Amino acid sequence: MEVVILKNSDQVAQYAAELVGTLLKSRSDAVLGFATGSTPLALYQRLVADYQAGKISFKTVTSFNLDEYLGVAPDNPQSYRSYMNRELFDQVDIDKQNTFVPACRDNENPHDVGLGYEQQMRGAGGVDLQVLGIGANGHIGFNEPSSSLRSRTRVKTLTRQTLQDNSRLFARDEFQPKLAMTMGIASIMDARKILLLATGAGKAGAVADMIEGPLTAMCPASILQMHEHATILLDEQAASGLQNRDYYDWANVQNESLQDRFGLLADPIGS
Ligand code: PGA
Repeated sequence: MEVVILKNSDQVAQYAAELVGTLLKSRSDAVLGFATGSTPLALYQRLVADYQAGKISFKTVTSFNLDEYLGVAPDNPQSYRSYMNRELFDQVDIDKQNTFVPACRDNENPHDVGLGYEQQMRGAGGVDLQVLGIGANGHIGFNEPSSSLRSRTRVKTLTRQTLQDNSRLFARDEFQPKLAMTMGIASIMDARKILLLATGAGKAGAVADMIEGPLTAMCPASILQMHEHATILLDEQAASGLQNRDYYDWANVQNESLQDRFGLLADPIGS
């Protein structure tokens, strides 16, 4: 795991946008995995700005989103499809035909939708770079604590904590879904590179469990300890529970000097 601790959430977004930009410049037909939630919003704003400045293009990009609510129509503003259209897709040159969200319509069997989504990801050659957030309970996607570490795209019941955390986004009398389709933990682990963003003190406990705790289904994000190319981008607050902080900062100084001498030491995606 590469743990990069930056001063604030702006710097996290900037660092993440630079990594995505570098990938798009070397591979214009990259397959990107996107996340929703509050954390990646600043990243998407920077990607839109970089697109508008002519620095990057999404014309031949394919994307797969982590998750989507069940029982929420794609054109409902609360759907993750709407979120992606609003925050990124409608503002850049991506071909929407090449953007995928694991949506399950009312008359569809979630099991079949999950299998189909896995097939679509495989058919696209797999995800090159997966953007992730982390829940205060350690979830990635909607893989809640106790999710199988070998799970694939399927329907999950959201925990009470997740419902509580997300209730701020729903009006008092609005339907708040309790079920969602989500890429599984094994599906996420298939990505060639992982970029997890966490900001704010509310994530400090989950971040410490992910990086320094045991590998356990009770903290689904801890599986990233097993990923060969996972970069964890944190602001100071999200990093505040880490015991081994000095080492991460020290290692980053060394990594920067190694990169100056040899360039990228390991590029899982290639060019
Ligand atoms: P957030 O959600 O970015 O809104 O905090 C992250 C997550 O639940 O994965």
